[in-house]
Amino acid sequence: MPSAPPTRIHILMLEDDPAHAELARRALIDAGISVLIIRVETRADFQRQLSESTPDLILSDYSLPTFDGLEALRLVQVSAPDIPFIFVTGTMGEEVAIETLKTGATDYVLKKHLARLGTSVRRALREASERRERHEAEQKLLQSNEQLRALSAHLQQVREDERIRIARQVHDELGQALTGLKLDLSWLVNDLVKTNPALSQKVQALTERIDATIQTVRQISTELRPGVLDNLGLVAAIEWQAHDFQLRTGVRCTTTNMVDEVMWGEDFSTTFFRIFQETLTNIIRHAEASAVEVVMAVDAGRFVLIVRDNGKGITAAAIASTKSIGLVGIRERAALLGGLAVFSGGPGLGTIVTVSIPLSSAEPLGDKTP
Ligand SMILES: Nc1ncnc2c1ncn2[C@@H]1O[C@H](COP(=O)(O)OP(=O)(O)OP(=O)(O)O)[C@@H](O)[C@H]1O
Ligand SMILES: [Mg+2]
Repeated sequence: MPSAPPTRIHILMLEDDPAHAELARRALIDAGISVLIIRVETRADFQRQLSESTPDLILSDYSLPTFDGLEALRLVQVSAPDIPFIFVTGTMGEEVAIETLKTGATDYVLKKHLARLGTSVRRALREASERRERHEAEQKLLQSNEQLRALSAHLQQVREDERIRIARQVHDELGQALTGLKLDLSWLVNDLVKTNPALSQKVQALTERIDATIQTVRQISTELRPGVLDNLGLVAAIEWQAHDFQLRTGVRCTTTNMVDEVMWGEDFSTTFFRIFQETLTNIIRHAEASAVEVVMAVDAGRFVLIVRDNGKGITAAAIASTKSIGLVGIRERAALLGGLAVFSGGPGLGTIVTVSIPLSSAEPLGDKTP
């Protein structure tokens, strides 16, 4: 005899005949299942029981004097679809049986074959518990995905804030200190010209070195966070970056802008700008291209950035690979603002990166003062 489950199974039974209910109870006990059965006959009682507690299982007759098993099943499907529902019925034609299973019944057992009931109940409970576990695992996965996404958004924000802060400090403090030094030196040089011409040449050379250092400081600050992004907006920043890219790499980079100049929110602008930079880096590292075309447009309420190179073309494998962290990052950045990044290309086609984000995400996202 199979060993009894450790807990009592709570069963809600829809059955108008107490004798039949008793037979079912015995069948379950004979199968080694410990049960607590609440029997109801009417729709009102059935609904009340369901609202008061959640049974582990429902056993239901098919036709009742005042209620109907299939209707009961439909009710349960709406309010508690996870509870296993088994028909226990005197007769049931094949078509009706199929209909009940389609509606969502777990199983059906004929009253003349009650010996089957135990097996059917056990299986229904096992499947329900597996479904629950699967559902819980899915929920946990969903939750941890959400947490990871929030973490990634937070890290990006922290990194961007840090870059803005360092860029300003480097630009303002280092820049000012160097400019001060240069002023002092020019004063010295004026004085020295009269008394010691040999030294004045040295001071002149020093002034030039300070000028070069000021240039380097500006460059570092711009690389961290280009001022044009905050002062003139996204379109200007992309045009500037494209121009700078062409100067640095010798790869022709043309931009076509079909958007009126506007200042969009910082998150929105930063997202597009960083994606654009990442895309240009990929072109230099992988594409072997000689030309890049950049198009900015507004389409169906979305800002769209298209970057196309005439290089060897990205492969389908690279697009799909989870190891393409750069591409994953681009997709993720776009998704955080409800947008989409799509990669395509191949031999002879070059690579096309299309990023579109709804302009509804472009408003400044509230007050960000710390
Ligand atoms: N413009 C392009 N032309 C051709 N292949 C490309 C282009 N952009 C990306 N790829 C391919 O897609 C792959 C994934 O790019 P991804 O930016 O994710 O990684 P990566 O550039 O190799 O490394 P990193 O993490 O430093 O960005 C690249 O290794 C390259 O094979
Ligand atoms: Mg990359």
